[in-house]
Parts: sequence; C-alpha cells; structure tokens
Amino acid sequence: MSKAILIYGSTTGNTEQLKDFVESGLKSAGWDVTVKNVKDVDINEVKDYDLVVLGCPTWGDGELQEDFIDFYENMTEDIFKDKKAAVFGPGDSELYPDTFCEAVNMLESKLNECGAKIVADGLMVDGSVEAAAGEAEEWSASIKP
Ligand SMILES: Cc1cc2nc3c(=O)[nH]c(=O)nc-3n(C[C@H](O)[C@H](O)[C@H](O)COP(=O)(O)O)c2cc1C
Repeated sequence: MSKAILIYGSTTGNTEQLKDFVESGLKSAGWDVTVKNVKDVDINEVKDYDLVVLGCPTWGDGELQEDFIDFYENMTEDIFKDKKAAVFGPGDSELYPDTFCEAVNMLESKLNECGAKIVADGLMVDGSVEAAAGEAEEWSASIKP
C-alpha cells in the first residue's frame, strides 16, 4: 500500500481538527496514512513516504504557525525531490485579507523549490473548520495513490 505522512501544526486546535477530515479522505482514497504533529517529526522521516501532506495555519502577519518554522527551514531537495506533496491550512480572510492562508502559499513555494510534485492545489479553509469537513475530505480523497 502506498504510504502517506500527514504533518500538521496547530496553536489553537483548528488545524488539529481539520487534519482528521484530511486523514479520512486520504484513507478512503487508499493511502496508508501516518499522522504526526510537526513538533514530533524528524524531517528525514519524510523520505520513507510516497506522499507528504502538510497542514499549517497562518499566524502573525502572514507567517507560518510557530512549530512549522524549523521544519520549513530544514526542507531540502535531498528530502523532497520528486516527492508527491499537498498543503492545506485554515485562515481568516475577513480579519487578514492581505495575508489569507499565506502559510499554504509559503509551503507550496518551498516544495516547488525543493523539486516536489504538488498533486493537489492548496486547500485554504476560511473560518470554521467544522463547516469545511466535507470539502477537506473531498480534497484529500482526490489525491490518488
Ligand atoms: C494573532 C493571529 C494572527 C493571525 N494571522 C492570520 C493571517 O495572517 N492570515 C490568515 O489567513 N489567518 C490568520 N489568523 C487566523 C488563523 O490562521 C486561524 O485562526 C486558524 O484557524 C488557527 O489555526 P490553529 O488553531 O490550528 O492554530 C490569525 C489568527 C490570530 C489569532
């Protein structure tokens, strides 16, 4: 079975909740899924998987969630070249119109720089993550092994 690792960071619990919907969609598509908080990930583990899915909310003024910063800085071509990858994250376009889900854009750009193959357009969830359950499951279920 093809192996996927879903790596998320979450300060107030929204991405932690959202990742359950993403995990469920990946499983229904046929992936063997491992889920980890970015705090507990050694980035070299990514090499053992066919697909990496990153879940990161935007904090500050268009910044990565704090636990993702080290991970981001350690992303290299050596680890990500030709790796299938996708990114999701919640944000708030009403309060932060100019930096809405900027963390998703940042991670996608970095993945491109590292030679990864983005297999689904970044999923940006605006506001309530519960309301986006169906959308998130559909998004990840579209990523086929
Ligand atoms: C201080 C603060 C700054 C934020 N900055 C942004 C931002 O720049 N862009 C954005 O889209 N959302 C922003 N948000 C909204 C968060 O991304 C949103 O609340 C998200 O669901 C938090 O995810 P988490 O609970 O997994 O940490 C901000 C929220 C707070 C409280």
